[in-house]
Amino acid sequence: MSSTKPALYPIKPSITVPLLDLKAQYATIRDEVREALDRVIESQYFILGPEVEALEREIASYSQCEFGIGVSSGTDALLVALMAIGLEPGDEVITTPYSFFATAGAIARLGALPVFVDIEPSTFNIDPAAIEAAITEQTRAIIAVHLFGQMADMDPIMNIARQNRLQVIEDAAQAIGAEYKGRRAGSIGDLGCFSFFPSKNLGGFGDGGMVTTNDPALSDQVKLLRNHGYKPKYYNKVVGGNFRLDALQAAVLRVKLKHLDGWTAARQRNAANYRPLLNLAGLITNDPATTFTDSQPVAVPLDASESRHIYNQFVIRCACRDELLIHLKDQGISAAIFYPVPLHLQECFNELGYRSGQLPVSERAASEALALPVYPELPEGSLAMVVDAIADFYSAV
Ligand SMILES: Cc1ncc(COP(=O)(O)O)c(C=O)c1O
Repeated sequence: MSSTKPALYPIKPSITVPLLDLKAQYATIRDEVREALDRVIESQYFILGPEVEALEREIASYSQCEFGIGVSSGTDALLVALMAIGLEPGDEVITTPYSFFATAGAIARLGALPVFVDIEPSTFNIDPAAIEAAITEQTRAIIAVHLFGQMADMDPIMNIARQNRLQVIEDAAQAIGAEYKGRRAGSIGDLGCFSFFPSKNLGGFGDGGMVTTNDPALSDQVKLLRNHGYKPKYYNKVVGGNFRLDALQAAVLRVKLKHLDGWTAARQRNAANYRPLLNLAGLITNDPATTFTDSQPVAVPLDASESRHIYNQFVIRCACRDELLIHLKDQGISAAIFYPVPLHLQECFNELGYRSGQLPVSERAASEALALPVYPELPEGSLAMVVDAIADFYSAV
């Protein structure tokens, strides 16, 4: 019998360049992590406690802050931070529409209103020049997101906030260790919010987060709120929640924190190496902001000289983005879209009344941005494979 029957399914290459390879990272720290986990298991102290307190001190110091309060996720960090400043139903919080949903979700969950203003094209971060016009009598706070690992332009944001008596929360979920003029993410606003979701540069073995602040009163309030508002136990001063961090997560994160600067340096090297490769392939424009042409269909992210970009993601802008994504997938290369729908156009915010076209820079980013693999353990040659596949795509369109 003939054995030349066609395959039932076309054979596609398996992923050869993933977006992230946590197994490769774990292989380098396996023994240290297991030892730390064992320490917690032997202690049987699983919720808050000494391991969490040690992590809080270490993250606070790493982030140039006085206080760190471990919480259950980056989402809960934002929620508890907004609760701590006393956000009330009907209050308004100015923020960016080009972020992960939790930034705006936390505002809405407290009955407050997210007020979206547009972003800067070159950094994907909130445009400080757009903030002032959005301030009303109801405005209480600004949430600045440090997207993809690069900090928002904090000086003008802090100036506007101070002039208008607004509080500033830094959503630093993607930006641990990022710097703006020598100051670390989470240390400039009234409160900083971090995520330890596994894909973050400092990722746990599950959910986790941290709130940072230099204000002792806000630190006390976040501590109170993360554990049902108890003080002492079973005597509730305020209505809080269970936003506690587990000791097992803290133990893993303490091990990983020791490696974080090395991993960040490797991400920065990869990001730096993309630029000449994309250039040699004739793919990039010199303008990092937005403008690409048929002959140079890709724009690379701005790495501002006064900032330390920690490249949680390396996000390009590109022509025919959705088709390029499919082409890369067919070549075994993982890329990702962060974020396909800006927050002001999400169905759940319909009643806020935003229309398509109202925040054009964000809307354009949502249709052009593509994250390429930049993780620290990327094997040699992977960047060239990614760039070759991109060049191959544009040579055919
Ligand atoms: C900008 C931003 N804010 C908030 C969060 C929420 O963090 P978590 O997933 O830990 O709840 C994330 C996580 O993806 C994020 O990227």
